[in-house]
Amino acid sequence: MDLTLTEEHNNIKEAAREFAQRVLKPGVIERDTKGEYPVEGVRQMKEMGFIGMTVSEKYGGGGMDMISYVLVMEEISKIDSSSSVILSAHNSLVCWGIEAFGSEDQKQRYLTKLATGDYMGAFCLSEPEAGSDATSQKTMATDQGDHYLLNGTKNWITNGSTADIYVVIAQTDIEKGHRGINAFIVEADSQGVSTGPKEDKLGIRSSDTCSVMFQDVKVPKENRIGPDGFGFKYAMKTLDGGRIGIASQALGIAAGAYELALAYSHERKSFGKPINQHQAVAFKLADMMVDIECARLLTLTAAKQKDLSLPYSLMAAMAKLKTSEVAMKHTVEAVQIHGGYGFVKEYHVERLMRDAKITQIYEGTSEIQKLVIARSIMKK
Ligand code: CAA
Repeated sequence: MDLTLTEEHNNIKEAAREFAQRVLKPGVIERDTKGEYPVEGVRQMKEMGFIGMTVSEKYGGGGMDMISYVLVMEEISKIDSSSSVILSAHNSLVCWGIEAFGSEDQKQRYLTKLATGDYMGAFCLSEPEAGSDATSQKTMATDQGDHYLLNGTKNWITNGSTADIYVVIAQTDIEKGHRGINAFIVEADSQGVSTGPKEDKLGIRSSDTCSVMFQDVKVPKENRIGPDGFGFKYAMKTLDGGRIGIASQALGIAAGAYELALAYSHERKSFGKPINQHQAVAFKLADMMVDIECARLLTLTAAKQKDLSLPYSLMAAMAKLKTSEVAMKHTVEAVQIHGGYGFVKEYHVERLMRDAKITQIYEGTSEIQKLVIARSIMKK
């Protein structure tokens, strides 16, 4: 598969890198400490066209391919993964599904605003008792003729309190199992919608994560996405693409930690020479580079498969599994290379290490990725 980057790809990568350094880097430590939402960063991501970058131009988006998306996600995640998850949840989990499976009316009413960032979106699947086991939805959408009545609680929702619209996965007919699940577009200002307090997290501390509660919320019939009973498959297909987004986030975290460790290893001297002249450090840097390059190839391959409309579910799961493991392993190594300095906030690597952990958990834990991969192997 040809993964050569075009001039356009290189330009967007450079623009994202420059943006992350100029806009997101100042204040990233303070936002992380305070758990403060990156208001200005998100405003400027809208101006840069990153919010809604994967939506086609027909609906007012950037019309960019998945390779561009991976490059932008990687560069932003090197500096600020809280900002990149906001971007990823919006593009991968909300915009893509509506464009792929929504009605023309839904696209005109919602996607056009999501594409420009006038609306932010959140994807509501996880529940207090339904995380990995996504078929065990307790949130109910009861058919009332011209509308559904939605009741339930969703947990760990990225963009939970800042979103203007939610894509909510809910049970409509418990007897039918996964075929009795549907996906709905719910306006955040609908009567009966409320949000919990912002979660106080280990990492990605400045992104907005909270519970979203629905109590007797009227959802118009025309806001159901796709045919009756399509909601579980909708969620699975959406997560396949989401996993490419999280893989690129993990890639950025790993590559960011590597860049910092490499730079530090040139500056810091011990026993009379730069620390990278000691094999103990040089070998760590070599391992980092190899693993990051493997992770990058998997992630770009999954993106390319999606761009070419080839099946990408397996490659996305492999990319997410590998990159998140690489991110976790090598952010720990980057801290180690920094020694005591790595343990303090000023040097950034401790934050990257904390941020890495969530990439092994959300949009399917590492164990879920292995399940998807193993099932695919058994089918062959
Ligand atoms: N694409 C299309 N259809 C799919 C599919 C896919 N990728 N995966 C499964 N399906 C279909 C199956 O074909 C099957 O359909 P049929 O019965 O018609 O054949 C149906 O869905 C049920 O499939 P399974 O029997 O495989 O379902 P399962 O209950 O065993 O679950 C699972 C499979 C992989 C474990 C799935 O539940 C899963 O991915 N769980 C993890 C959920 C997850 O990622 N949660 C994270 C929440 S989102 C988040 O983190 C958001 C955020 O804010 C960042």
